[in-house]
Amino acid sequence: MKGSLKAVITGTGSYLPDQIVTNDDLAKQVDTNDEWIRTRTGIRERRVLAEDLATSDMCIEAARKALEDAGIAAADLDLIIVGTVTSDMLFPSTACLVQHRLEALKAAAFDVSAGCTGFLYGLVTAAQFLETGMYRTALVIGADTLSRVIDWSDRSTCVLFGDGAGAVVLEAVSNTDYGILGSYLGADGSGAHLLNLPGGGSRCPATRDSVEKGLHHLRMEGKEVFKFAVKTMGEAALHVLKECGLSQEDVDFLIPHQANLRIVDAALKRLELPSDRVYTNLEKYGNMSSASVPVALDEAARLGKFQKGNLLLLIAFGAGLTWGGVALRWAK
Ligand code: UT7
Repeated sequence: MKGSLKAVITGTGSYLPDQIVTNDDLAKQVDTNDEWIRTRTGIRERRVLAEDLATSDMCIEAARKALEDAGIAAADLDLIIVGTVTSDMLFPSTACLVQHRLEALKAAAFDVSAGCTGFLYGLVTAAQFLETGMYRTALVIGADTLSRVIDWSDRSTCVLFGDGAGAVVLEAVSNTDYGILGSYLGADGSGAHLLNLPGGGSRCPATRDSVEKGLHHLRMEGKEVFKFAVKTMGEAALHVLKECGLSQEDVDFLIPHQANLRIVDAALKRLELPSDRVYTNLEKYGNMSSASVPVALDEAARLGKFQKGNLLLLIAFGAGLTWGGVALRWAK
């Protein structure tokens, strides 16, 4: 049946924690200032999740909004995928916790770990199940609570990240011009050391020593990741467009992973796109890892930025290293 079925986004939703942490707030804790953060990253403030909540709680809120938007009951879901690097527990998957709380009783559920590219990896994976006809309805969530793994005394990382969750409902639709047209996923594990969280896994389980050495905090070589991001964001975008037989001029909206405004600007330049064709919100939320793309997608959709038939290009990069792009025709 492949070819006649497409995976179409029929609903979006997102959740942002209430607590706002501004650049000035951070300047009271570490040696930084609003001017440095704004000019180097574009970020003004970020959200931090309440202590008694975890990633799955944000997923549930985003998922309920996406289901309502799509007019779908959780009981109708065949599949739930959560892209995250900050699952509630090492196992079981956050997707299983979400499946239980939504009472999506017939849905298969699993997490995808692809750093900030997690949502796109999940979206592409879910689309394969729908395009083959195996499943009809999927929920894909990107959610991260990086505030829990940041070293709040490290100014080179603590100013960059924020918490949030975004979700989409995907449905299999036959003989349609809308939906996902093409995708591209990349990985290069030789760059694993550039962005990681060394402690808590099987190589370095939690011990008093691992805690004292700060091995349970996110580590990043920012400059190297920056160079990689600038290169791969543009490449992923051009690769997907070529695969779909489209060109840069066809793109109505670019929804990029939101890590640094300078990286977004470099992608726009590479694609020769004007700045009114991109949607950014990192000034309000910082880098939300897997949640960046679906939250931006949901916000832009709810602001009425997209028209039915618009060509959207979603691109991301992240730990792994990983990167990817998805081209889709907006159906709502
Ligand atoms: O989603 C994937 C995850 N990560 C990313 O996408 C991040 C990619 N990388 C970046 O966005 C940028 O590399 C950063 C924003 C992290 C850093 O910007 P940069 O222009 O590469 O700055 P830098 O690391 O070269 O640091 C320049 C200076 C250094 O001081 P010296 O050595 O020149 O005296 C840093 O110590 O800025 C200093 N610095 C800060 N100063 C004030 C680093 N962090 C801060 C800070 N406030 N928060």
